[in-house]
Amino acid sequence: MAALELRGITKRFPGVLANDGISLTVPAGQVHALIGENGAGKSTLMSILYGLLRPDAGHILLDGAERTFASSQDAIRAGLGMVFQSFKLFEEHTVVENVVFGAEPRRGWLLDRRRARREVAGISRTFGFDLPLDALVRDLPVGVRQRVEIVKALYRRAEVLILDEPTAVLTPQEAEALFAVLRSLAASGRSVIFITHKLEEVMAVADRVTVLRDGRVVATHDVARTSPRKISAEMTGREVTFAERRAPRAPGRVVLEVSGLRAAAGDGTRLDGVSFQVRAGEIAGIAGVAGNGQDVLAAALAGHAAVTGGTVTLLGHDVTRAGNAARRAAGLGHIPEDRNRDGTAAQGDAIVNLAIGYHREPPLLRSGRLRSRELRAHAERLIGRFGVRIASPGTAVGTLSGGNAQKLVVARELGRPTDFLLAEQPTRGVDIGSIEAIHAELDAYRARGGAVLLISSELSEIRNLCDRVLVMFEGRLTADLRTDDVTDTGLGLLMTGLSADDHQGAPS
Ligand SMILES: Nc1ncnc2c1ncn2[C@@H]1O[C@H](COP(=O)(O)OP(=O)(O)OP(=O)(O)O)[C@@H](O)[C@H]1O
Ligand SMILES: [Mg+2]
Repeated sequence: MAALELRGITKRFPGVLANDGISLTVPAGQVHALIGENGAGKSTLMSILYGLLRPDAGHILLDGAERTFASSQDAIRAGLGMVFQSFKLFEEHTVVENVVFGAEPRRGWLLDRRRARREVAGISRTFGFDLPLDALVRDLPVGVRQRVEIVKALYRRAEVLILDEPTAVLTPQEAEALFAVLRSLAASGRSVIFITHKLEEVMAVADRVTVLRDGRVVATHDVARTSPRKISAEMTGREVTFAERRAPRAPGRVVLEVSGLRAAAGDGTRLDGVSFQVRAGEIAGIAGVAGNGQDVLAAALAGHAAVTGGTVTLLGHDVTRAGNAARRAAGLGHIPEDRNRDGTAAQGDAIVNLAIGYHREPPLLRSGRLRSRELRAHAERLIGRFGVRIASPGTAVGTLSGGNAQKLVVARELGRPTDFLLAEQPTRGVDIGSIEAIHAELDAYRARGGAVLLISSELSEIRNLCDRVLVMFEGRLTADLRTDDVTDTGLGLLMTGLSADDHQGAPS
């Protein structure tokens, strides 16, 4: 019997039909993937299932019985669990405290600490999680926090688990580990709904896959009986072709010069004397296992970290002590890693969000006044060029789907004249067709003579785009290679602190 059945779910927002009669069944013991372009309606459907949104029409059935959820509390009581992408954990509390929070075992009025610990340890052991029960959440890497979220749902006896793009924030190794977890959840008789933009992840972990387009179900397949090519054609309504990296050109003048840079972040990660240059017409990529100083480097380049030594120059201007606004004025563009925290103002509309950071420059500003017609025209141009799915330029960006919010940030930063672009995870959460479009834009920026530093956890992205790859390990740059001179295996070794010499066949 189907553990979960959705029948004819429909949800309309002003100007968009986000879900248009969606029906879906997920049997117990299966991993069901949900895939579709940015704005296809995946997160909306999951919010309805989890009681966060009310559908305009349609029914939810669990084990054959119809349910209505007025809140996520109702959904949790009925056996649903959701693992959010931005985790809802308390940083200053332990793993056990976070898991039992709001559902604590009690002895009389008191929290039964021993029982809480025993139960959390039990779940953790059953699924091979090996969670550090007494560690503070703030000290845990992202992959472990995600496991805390999963255990939290299991502790509340979730039978159906929803994971909305769980791998977007994970390293490839963490993603592999998550897949093992999803398989064992299914093996325990639970149902898992897994949203991703990565076809190879669908093929690796799911039993069945449903493809959404424009709020409708296009197809549902047994994964064993379909192919990535077929799914991507169904998602987009066309064949997606991936362009080859354009031929390298002779790089021009030095745009960014970093010399002996030292800085520290709040979480203890450091930059320990980093030196490199990026030239005009060049894309340099930073590869590294997360947590090796990439975040501090980005913060130091953007003007958000306290630099304790060394220098940063942009086109010959020393900007080491300059704030973010001064660096932007000196030619910096920046796609930040976290679009919600640093990249967008949720209440603001697209017109405002596409102008933030350079509304002090012509042609948006003239004679001290913002020019509203220019602002709107500018927004319309960028929305069209980057294919942002939005009802109108006056729509609040907080209502955009994840991938469309990301495209908006990329559009803003590539839509203004800059000399240097710091691009952190520029395609995070973006669908495959749009990744290709963003890559083409980055390549065109390079062809115009821009210099790019790309920080990406996707080796394939670094390989497709970058002329050079710089490897970070424990706060230092341990290699600076031409992309064509290194294999993926060689890069992988360098990222774990071994030298490429340790690997036969990789250049030194
Ligand atoms: N609260 C809201 N108000 C208005 N429109 C909304 C709201 N939430 C979602 N939408 C719109 O509904 C559509 C579907 O969005 P949804 O977030 O479900 O897409 P998605 O498939 O999850 O996309 P992504 O892959 O980018 O995460 C989009 O056009 C989005 O702008
Ligand atoms: Mg989404």
